[in-house]
Amino acid sequence: MKGLVLTSTAWVTLLTGCAGQSNPPVAELDAPGEEDDGGRIVGGELAAPGSAPWQIQIFSTAKYNKVEELDDAKLERGNPDKLYLSERSGHQLTHRCGGSYIGNGWIVTAAHCVVLKPTKGQPDGGVMQNRLVRIGTQDLSAAGGGATHAIDILVIHKGYSKKVPKDDIALIRIVENATTRQLLAVERLTAIPLHKPSDPALFDEETLRVTGWGWTGARTDKSAARLDRNGKTQINPAELMQVSVNYLQPAKCSDIENYATFWNARIICAGSLEAGKDACTGDSGGPLTRKQGGQRVLVGIVSQGVGCAFKSIPGAYTSVARYQLWIAAAKGVTKKGVTWLAEPG
Ligand code: ARG
Repeated sequence: MKGLVLTSTAWVTLLTGCAGQSNPPVAELDAPGEEDDGGRIVGGELAAPGSAPWQIQIFSTAKYNKVEELDDAKLERGNPDKLYLSERSGHQLTHRCGGSYIGNGWIVTAAHCVVLKPTKGQPDGGVMQNRLVRIGTQDLSAAGGGATHAIDILVIHKGYSKKVPKDDIALIRIVENATTRQLLAVERLTAIPLHKPSDPALFDEETLRVTGWGWTGARTDKSAARLDRNGKTQINPAELMQVSVNYLQPAKCSDIENYATFWNARIICAGSLEAGKDACTGDSGGPLTRKQGGQRVLVGIVSQGVGCAFKSIPGAYTSVARYQLWIAAAKGVTKKGVTWLAEPG
């Protein structure tokens, strides 16, 4: 099995950002093409229709105008500021993150999906207006394409900050409408049970599943984050993808220099035993699930990575069981708008 060859400066500053930051490339592969199986999520497959009825999409209302498109077209390929606007279709331009429906109008996602840069007059970065939720579809390009919702209540973990990627969890309550109620009634949208601390613990190398509309190409670094390792523009597929990853001992992640700075017992380490399978940018906030007692339960939230889909670089997921008390407290929030909620007790 061919592995990853790291340069001496390996692991320096290359946490998978979620679009828009740049860092020097630091890792290279000894086997070009190894990860390039053309799969999705990275290295995955289409999720069977109805197989993840809790999966929701978080998208942005931000649109690019003609001037921005023309400016973007002028930038050279590989320029980290280039958005490749002309190579993208509508759903790719607006897609941001995944999330999981957990019942009573509540969705669990990653904090980094909904914490936006504060601007003048908008301390929450305008997140209440800029982020919308889509439920009830696996195909983002489909006519109808599910039901879209405004955010009614947003609860963000108080321990989260963009600088230290810990406590990467948030709860969203959507504004229910007739379509939501109908989707619930016909069970196209199903709440996923949460993995509880009293449930059997994850076992070494247990097979878990991640789903999402995230980028589909393997890559090593953030400097050309919008390009995969073959120089192709990273795309968000229209149809929901899934991939199997394995639960790994925490040391497999905590020993990675970049993870070591924020690693703690409330993060789950999961990756493929083979190279080429992983979550990637745009999968964030989405579900990591296990099969338990004949049904799927939510064990983790897509949170961090170093590049995407490289052997020996698993993904980091927020542990749902370890945040059980916080999630319960967050579901009790009734104030509309954004609440930063501390750990209870
Ligand atoms: N932070 C990224 C996002 O916003 C995804 C992180 C997961 N990356 C990974 N290689 N497992 O979508």
